[in-house]
Amino acid sequence: MTALLEVRDLSAGYGDHEILRGLSLRVEAGELVAVIGPNGAGKSTLLKALAGLVRPRGGRIVLRGADITEAGTRRIVESGLCYVPQEANVFPSLSVWENLTIGAWTASRSFDERAGAVVELFPILAARRRARAGTLSGGERQMLAIAMALMVQPCLLLLDEPSAGLAPALQRLVFDRVREINARGLGILLVEQNARESLGLCRRGYVLAMGRVRAEGPGDVLRDDPEIRHLYLGG
Ligand SMILES: Nc1ncnc2c1ncn2[C@@H]1O[C@H](COP(=O)(O)OP(=O)(O)OP(=O)(O)O)[C@@H](O)[C@H]1O
Ligand SMILES: [Mg+2]
Repeated sequence: MTALLEVRDLSAGYGDHEILRGLSLRVEAGELVAVIGPNGAGKSTLLKALAGLVRPRGGRIVLRGADITEAGTRRIVESGLCYVPQEANVFPSLSVWENLTIGAWTASRSFDERAGAVVELFPILAARRRARAGTLSGGERQMLAIAMALMVQPCLLLLDEPSAGLAPALQRLVFDRVREINARGLGILLVEQNARESLGLCRRGYVLAMGRVRAEGPGDVLRDDPEIRHLYLGG
C-alpha cells in the first residue's frame, strides 16, 4: 500500500550547514506519528523541508504517491499537506474569523460547513470570532492556528510543538484535540518537546538526533526504552 508520506534519505540545511543528513521516515494514512529529539536536532527543519520552505538537497519526499520533493509551497498545500509552524502561525491584526477565511483558500466544501466542523472542535473560536488574533491567549492562538490548517482540509497535518509555552491544563486540551483530529482520519506528524506526552499519543515515533533518525518504533516501546528515557524523558 502507498504510504501517506514517504521521506527517503532527505538532506537539507542552511548555507554551509547540513542539518538533515539522510533522514527517512513514513506516515501511513490516518496515522499519528511523533518526532522527538533534543534542541537543534533538526525537527523544525524537517517540517519546513516537507512544507517546501527549505529546499531539499537530496533524497525524496512522496505524498500519496506523488513526488513533491521539488514542489513549491502552493502545490504542496494543494496536494493535501498543511504545516502549522510553532510561532507566527496566525495573522495578529485580523479577527479570528478572518484568519479562518484565509485558511479556506483551497478546499472544496463550503466555508460554512468547514467553519462549523472546526468550531465543533474548538468552540472558543466561535465565542471569540470578532477578537483580533493578536489578543488571544497562547492556547487560543494555537487552536486558531490548527483550525486554520483544518480549513484547508488537508490529508496530512504537520504540527511544530503545539503545546510549547502553554500551561499544563491547556497542553492537555491541545493534545486531546490532536488526538480527536487524528481519530477523524487525518494523518498527523507531530513534533513535540513534550516527549512523554507525544509518545503516549502517537502510534509510532521517531527520535531525531543530529539530523538523522536515531530510533523508531511504537510510541510506548520508545517511551519504555531505558536509553531514550535517560536521554529524552528525564530518567
Ligand atoms: N534559518 C536558519 N539559518 C541557519 N541555521 C538555522 C536556521 N534555522 C535553524 N538553524 C539551525 O539548524 C539546526 C536545527 O534547527 P531546528 O530548528 O531544525 O532544530 P529543532 O530540532 O527544531 O530544535 P528545537 O527543539 O530547539 O526547536 C540548529 O543548529 C539551528 O541553529
Ligand atoms: Mg524546532
